[in-house]
Amino acid sequence: MDKIAVINTHSHVNMLKEHSVDEALKNCADENVVIIVPSYDDKSIFEVDELVKKYPDVYGYVGVFPEEVKCFTDKTLSDMEKIIKSNNKIIGIGEIGLDYYWDKSFIDLQKEVFIKQIEFANQMNLPINVHCREAYFDTLNILKEHNKNSKVIMHCFSGSLEFAKECIKQGIYIAIGGVVTFKNAVKVKEVAKNIPLEYLLLETDDPYLTPVPYRGKENQPSYVKYVVQEIANLRGIPSEEIESVTTINAKNIFPQII
Ligand code: NI
Repeated sequence: MDKIAVINTHSHVNMLKEHSVDEALKNCADENVVIIVPSYDDKSIFEVDELVKKYPDVYGYVGVFPEEVKCFTDKTLSDMEKIIKSNNKIIGIGEIGLDYYWDKSFIDLQKEVFIKQIEFANQMNLPINVHCREAYFDTLNILKEHNKNSKVIMHCFSGSLEFAKECIKQGIYIAIGGVVTFKNAVKVKEVAKNIPLEYLLLETDDPYLTPVPYRGKENQPSYVKYVVQEIANLRGIPSEEIESVTTINAKNIFPQII
């Protein structure tokens, strides 16, 4: 690929059902989209390791998702370390964080595992891709207290503009996904329109949260272009500017991306 147009910082391309990985990545290649694929449990870290070895424009994160923290052990951490040390396309820790939406019965364990993975990211000197759902200030406070040296991305940002500003004060990047194209997504539109461009990143979180005009169908990573278009419209600037600034931002965080 001669030129990277867009870096999609969060795509579960390996979880698509209606599209094969080959097909979805062919569409990415056609649109000049490079993707980073998160893990979510102690098994998917190996799947992501294999996936990024197989495909050139695919990078990965290793980490355990808040809803899956019961599977997290010391062995998970040592497996993650081995994968990172043997594969230079594993470029971050994720997706990790807190989720109070689905099940509040093990919040303490979620916090404990989140903190362990932040400390691990610090040791490995890798960025963190954070999942935060209905746990805004707990997530931010844990990051403030425990994160020393890792760059942080708030994935699929769903908070208020005020919360986005609190994150940016801490140097945290804001990743906007397909929700920004939804008519009723007033808060996300406000965030996408108003945050400083140097903290903006793009993602899709496919197969979930399909942007307009494909809402109701399965999402895929190349649909990041609809996220770009919507943010460009909201800000009244060309799509190319959103593409170039978010690519510069992503490469600052992930210098391994070529
Ligand atoms: Ni995700």
